[in-house]
This record gives sequence, C-alpha cells and structure tokens, in this order.
Amino acid sequence: YLLGIDVGTSGTKTALFDTAGGVIASATYEYPMQQPQNGWAEQDPNDWWDAVRHGVSQVLRDSAIQPSDIKGIGISGQMHSLVMLDENNQVLRPAILWCDGRTAKECEEIHERVGKERLIELTANPALTGFTAGKILWVRKHEPEIYAKCRHILLPKDYIRLMLTGEYATEVSDASGMGLLDVPHRCWSDEVLEKLEIDKSLLAKVYESPEVTGRVTAQAAAETGLSEGTIVVGGAGDNAAAAVGTGVVVNGRAFATIGTSGVVFAHTDSLSIDPKGRVHTFCCAVPGAWHVMGVTLAAGASLQWFRNNLCRDIMEEADKRGIDPYVLMTQMAEKVPVGSERLLFLPYLMGERTPHLDPDCRGAFVGLSAIHTRAEMIRAVMEGVTFSLRDCMEILRGMNVTSEEIVACGGGGSSPLWRQMLADVLGCGVSTAVSREGPALGVALLAGVGAGLYESVPAACEAVIRTSKPQLPNETDAAQYNKYYTLYQTLYPALRDSYAALAKL
Ligand code: XUL
Repeated sequence: YLLGIDVGTSGTKTALFDTAGGVIASATYEYPMQQPQNGWAEQDPNDWWDAVRHGVSQVLRDSAIQPSDIKGIGISGQMHSLVMLDENNQVLRPAILWCDGRTAKECEEIHERVGKERLIELTANPALTGFTAGKILWVRKHEPEIYAKCRHILLPKDYIRLMLTGEYATEVSDASGMGLLDVPHRCWSDEVLEKLEIDKSLLAKVYESPEVTGRVTAQAAAETGLSEGTIVVGGAGDNAAAAVGTGVVVNGRAFATIGTSGVVFAHTDSLSIDPKGRVHTFCCAVPGAWHVMGVTLAAGASLQWFRNNLCRDIMEEADKRGIDPYVLMTQMAEKVPVGSERLLFLPYLMGERTPHLDPDCRGAFVGLSAIHTRAEMIRAVMEGVTFSLRDCMEILRGMNVTSEEIVACGGGGSSPLWRQMLADVLGCGVSTAVSREGPALGVALLAGVGAGLYESVPAACEAVIRTSKPQLPNETDAAQYNKYYTLYQTLYPALRDSYAALAKL
C-alpha cells in the first residue's frame, strides 16, 4: 500500500491506495482560515498536524491493514504559505498563506535588491505577493522579535514532514514557489539569498520529489498509528502533485483544477518563461522537468464564499438530505442560460495573480438586475471563475505549452456542469481522472517511485492513471460564451484605478 496526504487550504485529505491506485480508505479533516484584515489570510499549522494525525489514524482504522504494509508516504500541500519555527520547533506565528496579499511593498523591495530581470533569470519568476520570500521580509520588518527567534522556515507539507520524520526537508516543486530557488538548476539561489539577507541555514534541504527524505519516527508512529521507519518521499506542491495524479507528466499534457484556487497547468520538458511573469514556471515532480501554470486565487473559494454568506438555507437543506450543498447550487445554475441572463462576475475576492498580478483588485458582479435571483448569481460565479481560467489558458497557448485536451480536477472538476463550461470556454476537450484523489494519489505514486515499486514517475502514471472520455465543446454555447468572455476582459482594465483607490481608503 501507499499513503498520500494533501494539506489543502480547506482541509487535509489522507488517502490509502493499493499499488494499482485503487482507494482503500480516505479521510478529510477540515479547518478554518483566518482573515485578520482585508486581503490577509492565515492558518494555524497545528490545525494541519491535528488533521493529519486524525486522518491517518482513521484511514488505518477503516482499512484495517497492517501499518507495516505501507511501503511509502507522500505529502502534498498548499504552496507558498510561510511557517516559522523557533529552536524547539514551536510555531512562532500563524502561517501566512498563499492567497494573502499583504506583501506588495516587500515585493518591490525584492525587485530593488535583486533587480527584476536578474530575479527572473535566477528564479524563473518575478516577486509576487503570494510567494514566500515577500512574507519572510514582511515578518522581518513588522515582527522583528518573531524573526529573531526564527530558526526554521518551512512550507505547509514540509512542516508535516518534520512532524512525521524529524527532518527539515523540502523538494523542488514546492520550493520553486518560495521565490528563493534557482528554478533552472533546482537548488537554493545563493545570490538571491545574499541580496535579500536571508540566512540559508533557515531553509530546508532540497530533494527531487520522488526521493526519500526521511522515515517515520517512534513519536510520530505513536501519534498516528503508522509503522516506525516507513519512508517519506519529497512529495510535491499540490499542483505538481495533481499533475502526477492526473497523468500530466509528459510534454503536451495539461490539467485545470478548481479547488480553493484555480489553476491551468502544463508540463514542459524544457524551461519556458513568460517574460511578463503572468504565469509561474516551477520545477515539476518529474526530475529534470518543469511546468508552467496560471493561477486564479479565488476559484472554488468564490463559490464557497457565496455558499457561506448567501446560501445558509441551502446548506441546511443539503445537510438534512445528506447531500453536498454544491450539488443543489449547481442544479439551480443548470437551469439558467449561458451568460447568466447578462450577469458577469469577477472572481478577484483575494486579489488576482494571472493575468493581472494585482493584490488590490476585488470581486464584482456587473450587470445585476432586479430580475436576477441566486440562481443567476451562482451561475455567474461559475462562469466568472471559468473566464479567469481562460485568461490563464490563453497565456499558456501563447507560450506553446498547452494541449488539445485537458484533465479537470479539484472539487469544481467533479461537477459535469463546470466541466462542460470549461470545455466550452477554453475550447478544448475536458476529461476527468477516474480517481478523484488528485494530489493525494499523485504523492502516493511518488512514494511508490521512492520505494522502488515503479521505475519512474511517468511509468507510475502509465500503470495507474486512467481518464474518462473527454466532454467536447458545444459550438453554440462556446460562441455565446465567447461574447461574454470578450466583455469580461474589458472589466478589469475599466476598474483597475477604482480598485487601487479603494485599497487606499
Ligand atoms: C499556486 C497557488 C495555489 C495553492 C493552493 O501557485 O498559490 O494553487 O497551491 O493550494
């Protein structure tokens, strides 16, 4: 067996697989996200560890397997989020998350210190508010007493690795999103670290994703029920892990995910960089290869926001009927025609990365009319998120790194309506992976490679990953969506100055 753990933003999924990729047991534990100020986002790393401990224990209980039959563990997680520990591995402050936009000034400072062009040469990306480097500088400036106590800087899944194995380790795919990794050469950039005056000893040792990074300690075994000595491989950032879980590990393959964030991701065997920095170029989980991805910050998070604030009654009804509230919401949206009765939604609830790179922009409904009900608004949210993924796709197309067909994953990818919208709006076939476990399956396969069960990452995917027949674009709907997408594209430029002014009030 192989175990995959995915430390997401809404919760942590733990899943046990057989070596053919079949799910034996799976458990998800959720936790909250704090937003102490408009545009900020934080979580308590102890919540992640609690979710892992409970998830692993439950999966072992439900499956009734011998823990020693688990041949390897892979970990994946939300990228970029900053965890700071003191000399006793105590968490010093809440983690500052990937969707937190407080570091615009620090990103400017990084560009001044390193030079923007030089930074892109070294790390393949500009400084962005989501990335970890700006968050480190922010803590150093605003909380110097915490920075002074900081001995270890880790990413979310690497904090879980520390709890499991006692090792300070990371791997290239997640480390790429810190803004400190020499992405072309897959190691920390001494030049960037020197110019930012960040001590390298704060950072973890960098591995390739399928490499063994440590073994489960006696203490972690006692806390989780795992067998002491089980290997833990590098794993991957959640998107690079989802790529393995959907078989996007060779040139010409791509996927789109709608989780809390939304991503369009394409594998590339050679380094390819957008000079404008609108999409990220990171190392992928296949040793020696990279990926290019566009990121929309609030994808599923937009629908979740709508659900939590405006659909309490639907949540209660779903609870009574024992179904997912999103199923009821999607049924309402299905009855609304393409274009949501002339209603557009901008999904910039947490600012936006691709394509605007603007932490200050915010969401909007444009075209609200007295005839609109929640049904049109739900559909408009889904369409707006899909348009923002089209923005990502267009940039990848311009770089020649995408494919004719994509695999859809994440919570949104499991909705047939949303998949058809993706097909119609992106203009390509959209399949879905037969396994719904995405990143957890991806890192379980990496563990299988580390344990020697598969020869390589592509060989593991070849043996295990199956995708459905693609849903194809409906030409009439696609033409209709195109008109709305063209209008959608005019909205951000029209609102940009107002957003900037609003942020200053
Ligand atoms: C990627 C990103 C998000 C998080 C979500 O750059 O910020 O997709 O990884 O977990």
